Amino acid sequence: MKVVPKAEAVEAAPRLASRSSSRVARADAGTLPLDTILNGDCVAELSRLPARSVDLVFADPPYNLQLQGELKRPDESRVDAVDDEWDQFESFQAYDAFTRAWLLAVRRVLKPTGTLWVIGSYHNIFRVGSMLQDLDFWILNDIVWRKSNPMPNFRGRRFTNAHETLIWAAREPNARGYTFNYEAMKAANEDVQMRSDWLFPICSGGERLKDAEGNKLHPTQKPEALIARILLSASKPGDVVLDPFLGSGTTASVAKKLRRHFVGIERDPAYAEAARARVDATTPLPDAALVPAPSAREAPRVAFASLVERGLVTPGTLLTDARAQVKAMVRADGTLSLETAPGLGTVGSIHRAGAAAQGAGACNGWTYWHIETSEGLKPIDSLRAVVRSEMAMAAE
Ligand SMILES: C[S@@+](CC[C@H](N)C(=O)[O-])C[C@H]1O[C@@H](n2cnc3c(N)ncnc32)[C@H](O)[C@@H]1O
Repeated sequence: MKVVPKAEAVEAAPRLASRSSSRVARADAGTLPLDTILNGDCVAELSRLPARSVDLVFADPPYNLQLQGELKRPDESRVDAVDDEWDQFESFQAYDAFTRAWLLAVRRVLKPTGTLWVIGSYHNIFRVGSMLQDLDFWILNDIVWRKSNPMPNFRGRRFTNAHETLIWAAREPNARGYTFNYEAMKAANEDVQMRSDWLFPICSGGERLKDAEGNKLHPTQKPEALIARILLSASKPGDVVLDPFLGSGTTASVAKKLRRHFVGIERDPAYAEAARARVDATTPLPDAALVPAPSAREAPRVAFASLVERGLVTPGTLLTDARAQVKAMVRADGTLSLETAPGLGTVGSIHRAGAAAQGAGACNGWTYWHIETSEGLKPIDSLRAVVRSEMAMAAE
């Protein structure tokens, strides 16, 4: 887990009240009502919560879609669009004033190390982004959620609107200490750095909540996989996750599943009630499934020489590059001697010998050098992993 160094000034920890049920309706003054869904306007509710008490905010605010009349398909059938009263604002100015109010309220409850995620579409995300910068939040990334199954553009007058944008922002410029589980994200992405474009289907099938008549319970229910990616990348088990526009309760449910605390705020009492039922029906994952992957920096240091000392590599063994063209001999002291040009005769560490073999300034010898095993050529990093797991078992 990569945690940027802690900010110098961190306020005394606020009081936290853990509640077993999500049915507790109101916050006590100065106490964070953990694992609770509050029914009310988010700006008012946020003002009652303790300052600097929340690790991560996920906000899915009204998009202000500005739909003009009914949306119809070419065959005149009606499109189930978001035309709800909560998504409607008189003007862009009114939307901006609302955005400013909730962003300020969110910033007050965020810890200095906390981060904010906001999701939106082209209708609102630029206004939100510019307001974030005006209010001195610090944008860390914008993430494009590419929808694998977007709604088509029925009239064929524009491109298919196939993505939404997430902005990830720190509470202030130069923020330090925010959580970014870099290694876990990389490991989840086939050991390649996670990129800022994420592919997920929109919420459908069994995950989509239905009302008593079998209609969509909420028009903009987000996919759990999207929220899980956010919480897994930017929070830790036990952290407090707040969603000021909870809707059907996706964030609270995913937070409970991933063993994060949650605080949800929803203005519509029916949605708030449905969200509570959803959370009550959610089972947290076992602790063992949530232990974060250690970062390369957190893993214990292992010198190549200790592999030789432990008998995992015998002096005299020939190591090669991945294509078995470059060769180096392992010496008794754990250094390598290059057997091929360029760099023939160079003696040095696995990193120095690897760099010389490529005529490069630097090299990660652990991934460059390979050893022949019964299962074929393997990077010597696989032997380091063996030593690390032995060290971890010895420490238990
Ligand atoms: C875009 S939806 C969120 C959907 C949610 N992410 C989900 O997965 O179900 C926005 C929600 O915010 C609620 N809302 C709108 N204005 C609000 C306000 N001022 N305070 C609290 N909730 C509000 C709406 O009722 C709606 O349910």
